[in-house]
Amino acid sequence: MLYYLAAAFWLALASVPAVTAIVSISSADAHTLGRRWLPSVDKIRGVNLGSLFIVEEWFADDEWASMGCKGYYDEWSCVEGLGQQAADAAFDKHWNRWITKDDISEIAHYGLNTIRVPVGFWIKEDLVYKSEHYPRGGLKYLDRLVGWAADAGLYIIIDLHAAPGSQTGNEEFTGHSVPKPGFFTLKNYERACEFLDWITERIHTNKAYRSVGMLEVMNEPIKHRVNATDSEDMVKNFYPAAWDRIRARESKLHVPKQDLLHIQFMGSNWGSGRAETYLNDTTFIYYDEHSYLTFDTRVNQTKDGYIEGACTLYNGESNAVVGEFSLSVAHAVQSNVEFGIKNNPSNAAWYKKYFSAQVSVYEKRGGGWVFWSWKCNWIGGFNDWRWCYKYAVEAGAIPRNASEASSESPC
Ligand SMILES: *[C@@H]1O[C@H](CO)[C@@H](O)[C@H](O)[C@H]1NC(C)=O
Ligand SMILES: *[C@@H]1O[C@H](CO)[C@@H](O)[C@H](O)[C@H]1NC(C)=O
Ligand SMILES: *[C@@H]1O[C@H](CO)[C@@H](O)[C@H](O)[C@H]1NC(C)=O
Ligand SMILES: *[C@@H]1O[C@H](CO)[C@@H](O)[C@H](O)[C@H]1NC(C)=O
Repeated sequence: MLYYLAAAFWLALASVPAVTAIVSISSADAHTLGRRWLPSVDKIRGVNLGSLFIVEEWFADDEWASMGCKGYYDEWSCVEGLGQQAADAAFDKHWNRWITKDDISEIAHYGLNTIRVPVGFWIKEDLVYKSEHYPRGGLKYLDRLVGWAADAGLYIIIDLHAAPGSQTGNEEFTGHSVPKPGFFTLKNYERACEFLDWITERIHTNKAYRSVGMLEVMNEPIKHRVNATDSEDMVKNFYPAAWDRIRARESKLHVPKQDLLHIQFMGSNWGSGRAETYLNDTTFIYYDEHSYLTFDTRVNQTKDGYIEGACTLYNGESNAVVGEFSLSVAHAVQSNVEFGIKNNPSNAAWYKKYFSAQVSVYEKRGGGWVFWSWKCNWIGGFNDWRWCYKYAVEAGAIPRNASEASSESPC
């Protein structure tokens, strides 16, 4: 019974004219497709909506300043500095303008089929302690965003990008940069599980969330080589608990099998261990690999070296998506004549090859790719499109139609 309801739902969705990305799916297919439709019918081709719910100054410099946050390193310190009320007002304006409905249309128009939405646990406000400092009021903008994306036919990955206590050290993407990350306690695991339980219910019961097919339980946690005690504890005590909470909620809601979420973990290349080690069940598990050649010391830092690296180094699992990558190259060479883009716009043609090489490999070896990030402003004094898809397309460094990029690969 539920099976047919779900199928009818997808058929109804497919008949909405605005849904361009899935009109090619036949109605026969639609019967067998649920929430996880995308990785089974096409490659994931997407962008991250970075700096929306967790602002990182390094790629949103102007935006951060206009929020009144200049001089503060992360959201916590800005909220603490401005005071809760003033900060909530500043963040409200930010959420309203950073990603608009036009951005979502443009994303779909460029042949992309996916958005990955990084969120901090504090979007569920009752999880936040009085002693903690995070902005309030983001949830209605998440609801609005996923609704727009569903209307545009986009598939959605929701990513718990920032954990209670912070899951890694000295990073603004955790919302609270701390030298000693404090996520690795049963109390904070429980807060993260409460978030996952709640968002799972929202995904399955709120129509705006109908295109969310994947839920990532934790972005970029501490690496084993940084603190083996913490990373092993997380794999043993948080990952299985997170899995169980999501599935238990789905079971309570009688979600049919084809609509169970893909539950996503960082792949083992990340360096926090093997996520599945203590899982009782791995049905519909999915992995996330972050492939930043800019930080990869194996790459020879020449144009040919980067193409070679893009074509040969990636080794993720077949059920992994590269959830983050960029067009950047090593800091030491990114502004020289060979790689600079500010004074050498003709380098855009090479970057287009570099992009095509990367995505062809991520599509061939795995489930596809999600670029970091859609939008940025003022990195090092200019819009460095090596980190922003929107401007890279305008500069001619990414093809206008994302689904054609891999066929232009030099690999
Ligand atoms: C690693 O984590 C453990 C447990 O949280 C902590 O006691 C220890 O100080 C940490 N080690 C380092 C080097 O930070
Ligand atoms: C895994 O399954 C066993 C046996 O059913 C059970 O005792 C255990 O609690 C389960 N572990 C988790 C993390 O769910
Ligand atoms: C870097 O260059 C050396 C020498 O040409 C070559 O042997 C090696 O495979 C290259 N490494 C990569 C990752 O391309
Ligand atoms: C993008 O390319 C694909 C594959 O060639 C094609 O099917 C699709 O129609 C193109 N989309 C647009 C908007 O041109």
